[in-house]
Amino acid sequence: MAPSPKRARITAVELAAMKRDRRKIVMITAYDSLFASLVDQAGVDVILVGDSVGPVLAGETSPLPVTVNQMIYHGRSVQRGTTHALVVIDMPFMSYQVSPREATRNAGQILKRTGAGAVKLEGGRYFAPAVRAMVAAGIPVMGHLGLTPQSLNVLGGIRLQGREEQAAERLIADAQALEEAGAFAVVLEFITSGLAQRVTDAVTMPTIGIGAGPHCDGQVLVLHDMLGLNEQFHAKFVKRYAELGAAVRQAVGSFAEDVRAVAFPDAAHTHMG
Ligand code: KIV
Repeated sequence: MAPSPKRARITAVELAAMKRDRRKIVMITAYDSLFASLVDQAGVDVILVGDSVGPVLAGETSPLPVTVNQMIYHGRSVQRGTTHALVVIDMPFMSYQVSPREATRNAGQILKRTGAGAVKLEGGRYFAPAVRAMVAAGIPVMGHLGLTPQSLNVLGGIRLQGREEQAAERLIADAQALEEAGAFAVVLEFITSGLAQRVTDAVTMPTIGIGAGPHCDGQVLVLHDMLGLNEQFHAKFVKRYAELGAAVRQAVGSFAEDVRAVAFPDAAHTHMG
């Protein structure tokens, strides 16, 4: 695909207009400048520097070990590689849970040192005071409800969330509390499509789904999952748009064969003399 022509960078505020105009929001993760530049050229609206960087790139078994400094490093790389998409950076585990003051300080550092446009945090009404403090300080905040990977030890594993009516109502109230505190959008992860529709109808901020069906105002996937690079991860909601893992193995295998057969470098790749 040819790169899209350059446009001004999208802001958090513009996403609300996209919901109003019924234009679907496209969000994808990236952790480095090169991939960020490619997905930006492909025309996505939002790039999420997810704390999934721990499991996906660093081989961690969960996002819990990821630090603020790691998020700043990856966030800065992504921001540098992009001109159009809104860059949103995940606040890692224990960078916002202790107090609104600490949350604001950490989020401020993240935006100051990366140049990104917003941060994302997981959790509902309990974190409304933190969201309110951050927004008052000028920091746009995206929420994240449903399956929240930083709380997997409490949730008891990867399970569809909000199945019982009481839990569904709690999740809707959480979304409303985040909106009331000033969040500009919310990710809904691994909930039924019916509940995602109810949340989407209950708030004016956009909902962005992952494993939440088609009724959300936008969709997000983890780049390495949809490109077939993270081959160990299988979930019904991940559609693979490429098989880059297989392509990498094939290309590097061919290089190894050529080196061992002294077929590389050949004359075309050698400065003779
Ligand atoms: O960390 C991440 O990549 C995320 C997405 C799954 C939404 O939070």
